[in-house]
Amino acid sequence: MADSADSSVLFRSRVLFLTGKGGTGKTTLACAIAKLAAAQGRRTLLCELDSQRPSFTAIFGCVPTYQPTVVAPNLSICNVEWMPALDDWLADLVGAGRIVRMIMKNRMISIFLEATPGARDLMLLHRVAKLATQYDLVLVDMPASGNAAGMLSVVSTSRRLFDAGPIRRCAEEIDALLARADTSLVLVALPEEMVVNETKETRERIRMEVPALSQPLILLNRATPATLSPAERELLERLAKAPDVGVDGRELIEAGRLEERLETATAEALERLQALAPVVVLPVLARGEGAARVAAQLTAALARQSKVKVDLVGEAAGRAGGTR
Ligand SMILES: Nc1ncnc2c1ncn2[C@@H]1O[C@H](COP(=O)(O)OP(=O)(O)OP(=O)(O)O)[C@@H](O)[C@H]1O
Ligand SMILES: [Mg+2]
Repeated sequence: MADSADSSVLFRSRVLFLTGKGGTGKTTLACAIAKLAAAQGRRTLLCELDSQRPSFTAIFGCVPTYQPTVVAPNLSICNVEWMPALDDWLADLVGAGRIVRMIMKNRMISIFLEATPGARDLMLLHRVAKLATQYDLVLVDMPASGNAAGMLSVVSTSRRLFDAGPIRRCAEEIDALLARADTSLVLVALPEEMVVNETKETRERIRMEVPALSQPLILLNRATPATLSPAERELLERLAKAPDVGVDGRELIEAGRLEERLETATAEALERLQALAPVVVLPVLARGEGAARVAAQLTAALARQSKVKVDLVGEAAGRAGGTR
C-alpha cells in the first residue's frame, strides 16, 4: 500500500511487544507477523500474558498453555500465566525445586506477592525475558494500551523502589531486555480519530515511562487505500446533490461516498500517525470472516508488503487480501 513505511524491523527484531486500543487487531497482527517469521525459518514464539480466555485458540485451534506448544513448523504459542511464572522465578532464585514447593505451599507468600504492586507484571515479563533466550523471535500480545504501558513501566518503578535484592535483579533483567536494540514496540491503530488519539497518548506515555521503547513502529490496520481521483471525488459530490438519480443510482452514489469517507479517514489517520512514528499500512478485509482466515489474509498482505518471499503453506486464503 502507498505511503507505507519499511516493515523489515518486524523481521529483524528478536522481541516485539504489541499493544494498541482494544479491538484494533493486536492479536491477529501478532499471529500474522509470527507466521511470516516462522515461514522464513526463524524459531518463533507467540505469547499471551496471563489470559483468562486466550485469543490464540480461535486462530490456531488449540489452547495455549504455560509451556509453549508447537502449532506449525518453527512456530509455538503459549500463555504466560503468573503463578507458574512465579514458581519459575523462585526456582531460579533459590535453585531448589523442593524449597520452592515449600514456599509455594505457604499460600501467604503468593497472596503477599500478588498484592505487591507490580509483582505480577514483573513475573510475567521476567518469564518473557527467559523465553527470549530460547527463540529467534518472541512476540508478546499485550493487553490494551493503558494496561500495557502500566505493565512495562513497572520495571522502572521497581528499580526506584528496590535498591538491591531479588526484585531489583528481576527488574534489571527485564530492563536489559527492553533496552536491547532488537527489542521493539509495535502500536496497532485504526483509521479512526479516537484510536489515533489513544495511539498518540500511549506513545507519549511510553516515551516518558519506558524510554527504551520510545521508537515504536505503528501498524495502521483496516486501512482503505486511496483509489479515487480528485475528478471522481468531485463527480461524487455533484451526483450527491443531483435530484433525479433514482433508487439504484442513489445506492451507487452512497457506496461511492462511503468509499470516499473511508479513504479520507485513512489519509487523515496516516498523516497524524506519521508525525509520531513510521507507519506500516494494512488493508481492511472482508467482513464476517473467521479469526483464522483474517489472520491468514493479513499474513499474506504483510508478506506482499514486506516483499518477503516465503512459501505460506495453508495461507492461500490470503489471495483475497486487500478486498472488503
Ligand atoms: N485488517 C482487518 N480486516 C478485517 N478484520 C480484521 C482485521 N484485523 C483484525 N480483524 C478482525 O477484528 C477483530 C479484532 O481483532 P483482534 O482480536 O486481533 O483485536 P485485538 O486488538 O487483539 O482485540 P482485544 O483488544 O480484544 O485483544 C477480529 O474479529 C479480527 O478477525
Ligand atoms: Mg487480542
